Amino acid sequence: MRVLVTGGAGYVGSVSVEALVAAGHDVVVLDDLSKGHRDALPPGVRLVMGSYGDPAVVARLLADTPVDAVLHCAARSLVGESIADPALYYRENVVGGVAFLEALRSAGVRRLVFSSTAAVYGTPASVPIREDAALAPINPYGETKRTFEGALRWYAAAYGLRSISLRYFNVAGASARNGEVHTPETHLIPNVLAAAEGRAALTVFGIDYPTPDGTCIRDYLHVEDLARAHLLALEATAPDDPRTAATTQVGPAGGEGTGAAAVAINLGNGGGFSVREVLAAAEAVVGRPIPSTSGERRAGDPPALVADAARAGEILGWRAQHGDIVEIVRSAWEWRLAHPDGYRG
Ligand code: UFG
Repeated sequence: MRVLVTGGAGYVGSVSVEALVAAGHDVVVLDDLSKGHRDALPPGVRLVMGSYGDPAVVARLLADTPVDAVLHCAARSLVGESIADPALYYRENVVGGVAFLEALRSAGVRRLVFSSTAAVYGTPASVPIREDAALAPINPYGETKRTFEGALRWYAAAYGLRSISLRYFNVAGASARNGEVHTPETHLIPNVLAAAEGRAALTVFGIDYPTPDGTCIRDYLHVEDLARAHLLALEATAPDDPRTAATTQVGPAGGEGTGAAAVAINLGNGGGFSVREVLAAAEAVVGRPIPSTSGERRAGDPPALVADAARAGEILGWRAQHGDIVEIVRSAWEWRLAHPDGYRG
């Protein structure tokens, strides 16, 4: 199939593009390169530079290059930034996102996989978290992702858009070609590895959480496992696929509905690691102690976020294959060693 990948030059998007190409799909990437890197794209993949929120750009792209399905990875995705500047998150993730859905609707595209996040759950009442847990985001980032998921539900009922929202937990690691480079970098594993290289000091944000070692627990998922899930999710949006069909769905005007459904699926390892465990894994990988200091809690960090990933197994036949934290950190480290200056572009 031909797939449009928004944000395909970014971290998650680029590894997903690799997986799509390896599976024999035709890929076109839409990316404004505000965060992404041209070099992240495999040779032969067409890049259209522009914003998914610009209807003229999307309409032109789809007129030139009709697609079967969309993988929508592009978005603003920093929790701290979203608290400081919620307008940016509403403008891009919600206003831009709905403009994108409208452009898809005009072009008759009815299959979409959406990069959602564990941040839609906020601070969960219990872990592991199932998809039917309360959605109670505690920052604009999670709120805007939840809002877009809501739009997908109504677009399924009214317009027949089949979609799967993949709620990522903590994506980490690298493929041989692509790894994680953000400016600024806020994520734990790249920060730990930067400390190992002597490039930056590492602060452990909070050592008094109600967890066994006092540091936060997260569910780290290898980016290649995530990419594989995208492929399976795209396949599950095929017309007539029962996994994205709603037999009893009622349309918003009380009609019989379209038969399409919007489905949400957690993606995680189903196991968690504390900040200290990640640090220990990184020390094992690099073969030396990594200096760190203990600091205050970071605002908005829940103590533990771990996925119940059973639905991904039931619906997609997916489970994480790289569950070992040492293996995940090693892939990130090897990528950094091979790309000491990150990307060129
Ligand atoms: N941490 C540190 N030091 C650092 C960076 C992180 O101690 O330099 C800690 C954090 O406080 C947290 C853990 O490491 O306890 C993981 O932090 P990350 O920033 O790597 O990831 P988050 O869990 O904050 O973020 C992830 C996703 C977001 C999503 C969020 C939901 O990356 O997209 O979970 O809370 F919104």
